[in-house]
Amino acid sequence: MVLAAAGSAVGLGNIWRFPTEVGNNGGAAFILIYLACVIFVGAPVMVSEFVIGRRTHANTITAFRRLAPGTWWSIGGVEGVLVAFIILSYYIVVSGWTLHYTVASFANQLTADHDFQQYFGDFVSHAWWPVVYALVFMLMTHVVVVRGVQGGIERFSKVMMPMLLLIIGVLVVCSFSMSGFREGLEFLLKPDFSKITPSVLLSAVGQAFFSLSLAMGCLCTYASYFGPDTNLVKTAFSVVTIDTVVAVLAGFIIFPAVFSVGVAPNEGAGLVFITLPSVFNIAFGHVPLIGYLFSGLFYVLLLLAALTSAISLHEPVTAYLHEEWHMPRRTAAWCVTIAASVLGVLCSLSMGPLADYPIFGMSLFDFFDFITAKVIMPLGGILICLFVGRRMDEEAVRAEVTNEGRLRIPIFRLYRFLIRWVAPLAIIAIFIRGLL
Ligand code: PFF
Repeated sequence: MVLAAAGSAVGLGNIWRFPTEVGNNGGAAFILIYLACVIFVGAPVMVSEFVIGRRTHANTITAFRRLAPGTWWSIGGVEGVLVAFIILSYYIVVSGWTLHYTVASFANQLTADHDFQQYFGDFVSHAWWPVVYALVFMLMTHVVVVRGVQGGIERFSKVMMPMLLLIIGVLVVCSFSMSGFREGLEFLLKPDFSKITPSVLLSAVGQAFFSLSLAMGCLCTYASYFGPDTNLVKTAFSVVTIDTVVAVLAGFIIFPAVFSVGVAPNEGAGLVFITLPSVFNIAFGHVPLIGYLFSGLFYVLLLLAALTSAISLHEPVTAYLHEEWHMPRRTAAWCVTIAASVLGVLCSLSMGPLADYPIFGMSLFDFFDFITAKVIMPLGGILICLFVGRRMDEEAVRAEVTNEGRLRIPIFRLYRFLIRWVAPLAIIAIFIRGLL
């Protein structure tokens, strides 16, 4: 389950979103701020989600209800399940693009003579191709979830996570050989503190939440499957470390490639789908076979990362329907798959045939991203901090963190301070800024 939790955290957020944020916010300076956010805000919130999940051994909604019966705190659980469901519906759309790029790169379709801006635009706005890929990806997710926690999620994570780390290792070694390696490394490692502004700080906190899968019911649900001897603090540190190392290594893969061909490092969200394919082609133009393997492996990596995260978005909703509505697990999984597919199809079409029907001036895809990342997620984060930091009995929290007194956790007081003061105040800051 620890690997599964790491699988939830490592996803498109690390390989797609993190390098984009680093590129847009000045490189190494952003990474330093991000590390601080992960340690002082992300890790304590993660431990708190683990506390809620393992204390109750129940899905997120039931967990909040059991810990605070008859109060409005159960909103914290409802938020988690709802937001996981909404994110799942648009996450499968981007994952579908990844699946397409994986197939296209192995079919040798991503060749140097494409205009990748046009290629990407044509693909995402096509009436049915992106829909087909999103649905296939959804089915891949379904097949794992429907097999249950041990037979599906645990088993899959045990194989996929080491494979993912191996692919990253191979790609990092390959990127050593690129001409832009030194420049890419400098961009990643040499901080320019003049770039640090309040907005960089806030982007870093937002990235930490998304990347660590916080406030979405996922980690709380996974923690409900932890055994009595799992060390929650150590597990949170392992997940945070794996997630951060993968994000930084993704930077080691992407920036040397980008600098090798002289593209600006802040190419925005198109970095992975527009800039990189052309970069791979140009960088390896002299050895096409390596270029072919490099780009194929890169998209497989992205696909695996997306799959373990999508599974973790599916599970909280399935577990809720299974445990609370007493549906057989298979039926529960099908309900989630079908409902998320319908919403996913609408999200995908909102960038193509339905582009003329915006919601509050945004496509459905952008609207879901906005409402989850900028509104519901921060509110959920604040709720978790307040719930574990102020509503739950301190002795119950201590008992859970120390496995009923069997572990010595010297940083317990520091954790309490972070969860009561530092984390909620930092999240309130993002929330206000997000709304502004
Ligand atoms: N952490 C995942 C990523 O970095 O891509 C995304 C994610 C997964 C967000 C699960 C939220 C979640 F509950």
